[in-house]
Amino acid sequence: MATAQVGVVIVGAGPAGLVLGSLLLDRGVDCVILERRSREAVEGRARAGFLAAHSVRVLTENGLGGGLLAHGTTHTACLFRSDRGEFTLDYGKSGQGEAHTVYPQQELVRDLVAEYLRRGGEIRFGAEAAEITEGAVRVRGGTRVTGRYIAGCDGHRGIGRAALTAHGTRTARWDHGVSWLAVLAAAPPSLDAVGYALHERGFAGHMARSASVTRYYLQCPRGTDPAEWSEERIWAELAIRMRTDEFGPLRRGAVLEKAVVDLRSDVLERPGAGRLWLAGDAVGLISPTAAKGANLAVLQAELLARALEGALARGGGASLARYPADCLPRLWRAHEFSHWMSGLLHGPAGDDDKARYGRELQYARLESLRTSRAHQDFFAENYVGI
Ligand code: APR
Repeated sequence: MATAQVGVVIVGAGPAGLVLGSLLLDRGVDCVILERRSREAVEGRARAGFLAAHSVRVLTENGLGGGLLAHGTTHTACLFRSDRGEFTLDYGKSGQGEAHTVYPQQELVRDLVAEYLRRGGEIRFGAEAAEITEGAVRVRGGTRVTGRYIAGCDGHRGIGRAALTAHGTRTARWDHGVSWLAVLAAAPPSLDAVGYALHERGFAGHMARSASVTRYYLQCPRGTDPAEWSEERIWAELAIRMRTDEFGPLRRGAVLEKAVVDLRSDVLERPGAGRLWLAGDAVGLISPTAAKGANLAVLQAELLARALEGALARGGGASLARYPADCLPRLWRAHEFSHWMSGLLHGPAGDDDKARYGRELQYARLESLRTSRAHQDFFAENYVGI
């Protein structure tokens, strides 16, 4: 049974684990990343792509932003459509005047892997953590890797989170009760901005990923099988909900991926204890309404790197004890906004009195966003901020 002793054993090579690894190496902390999937699988996974100003700052200030600065595009506006018309909200001119950088997550992950390796870091691909015990991770197949601290960056269904909940850490949870068919299309964006379409058939969304790839979302009933949605049906439904008769056609292309995402959110009451600390989706899952997931992963990686560095340098848990207080309030602000966005985008189904009431509230909220400078500032600050 092989054993290695490092400062921090990181489980998971997603955005959280990779940013944490590079920041730790920069601060002179030795670490190893255990990732159960292959390098190709990790680098090929198309997921998010919207980086908030804070994430861009963290990445560029730490030498991790070369790719996104060279190839990312800046977004400062989003567009809302409904049967009452459409309007563009130029959030770059409201609030703090900040922008999003659109850069596909798989490209960011590729950059992060390359930079971590360039800094001399070690990633073991195909190494699945099977068990976490005090200061050690057992890899499936028998190897034990020991570290002074373990960082669980292994996502929402990972064993880092499970190890904490097994010892009594509780979760706060919300089911938004809706699902989205998430479609990745080999099609150039059809709008200059992120598009949110409200429709009595359900929400539809448009988000650019690159000059030739666009992400679309279609609200669908819980339990939908993506196989029910042929390419033809997807484009036909998008045309209806995005009201192309009125606002012009969508640029179509082959559907590269389709998956159903149930909109759920949860947050652990504490992101770690003792020698095990978590970052990213392991701490909390956030509904994708405001594209916060990857940004929260970067934020937590930054905070956890600082806390672990302090703990290792000064041999005490004081800086780690501050990590929950640094991280949780900001996480909750993002959840609050995401939750608010979910209410804005999803009207009630049906046509009874209650549904009509709910829909009118939705329109009133949208109208307020269209006309009130204060509301636009609130939106901008929370949409781009973290
Ligand atoms: N052993 C080793 N690796 C594991 C294990 C395990 N037992 N379990 C999970 N992993 C790996 C997964 O294969 C994955 O590569 O952990 C990684 C977790 O990465 P993500 O799920 O991307 O989580 P995180 O880094 O927190 O980033 C989350 O990024 O994709 C966006 O918006 C999305 O909110 C999400 C955010």
